[in-house]
Amino acid sequence: MTEHVLIAAEDGVLRITLARADKKNALTQAMYAALGQALARADTDASVRAVLLEAEGDAFCAGNDLGDFAAVAAGKLAREDMTAFKFLYALARVRKPIVAAVQGQAVGVGVTMLLHCDLLFVADDAKLSVPFVNLGLVPEAASSALLPARIGYSRAFAMFAFGEAVDARSAVSLGLANEVVPVSEVRAKALAAAKLLATKPTGALQAMKQLMRDGEALVALMAKESEIFTECLKSPETAEALRAFAERRPPDFSKITG
Ligand code: COA
Repeated sequence: MTEHVLIAAEDGVLRITLARADKKNALTQAMYAALGQALARADTDASVRAVLLEAEGDAFCAGNDLGDFAAVAAGKLAREDMTAFKFLYALARVRKPIVAAVQGQAVGVGVTMLLHCDLLFVADDAKLSVPFVNLGLVPEAASSALLPARIGYSRAFAMFAFGEAVDARSAVSLGLANEVVPVSEVRAKALAAAKLLATKPTGALQAMKQLMRDGEALVALMAKESEIFTECLKSPETAEALRAFAERRPPDFSKITG
């Protein structure tokens, strides 16, 4: 387990809190493992009737830890050992409803995991971006299908290709989120919604969720995405993007041909 993911049960709600605020809640392999275990518990523990996904600090999640990406790129971390994929598969399959609260930056998997949540409350300072292409990578977590399905192909293409952030109000108008909430209230609002869900007939709620989304089809797409993603991780494009982030300079892809 890791101290960077906090798990607590409250009134039928399993609260999962990202707690690595000093690194903007960037997800390490240990954090993915803890998240995967928490989701497994949510589905097997009958006392859990809803899940809340939230984060400490001023950012929801800066995506995958870029140090881990660099380790895979350098051959120091094997794809099979990346607990990220196991977490994402669990997220696609989980039957209990998930509510999320997002404040500040949500980047990469910090956004694509939200496409698997059933209710989403965004703080007025929320900024959602999916800059996979800027990193020489491709979308993951079934977002290559889920994002266009949610907001339309053209808008999804632009979000992926340019990596520009969508603000809270746009996230609601695009159909990505339910409601904009003042930042000081967003976690309480999401918790209240999760507690309300926990009072509903849980069998009907879970059956409804399964009708609305085909978890196994999402897992199959994730497997396809992850093969291409891990190939991309070893590319010169990703190497340049990661070097640029570490050196705090803009990347230069002009000399790399496709
Ligand atoms: N992986 C590892 N560390 C990360 C990180 C990531 N994905 N995102 C942020 N951090 C770290 C920074 O290196 C910094 O660490 P330091 O204090 O030891 O130098 C700390 O978190 C704070 O980040 P900083 O960039 O100073 O904060 P900011 O408010 O200026 O910007 C972000 C926040 C999220 C916009 C910016 O950190 C960012 O773009 N991160 C990378 C996001 C990304 O590309 N993720 C992968 C998507 S596929």
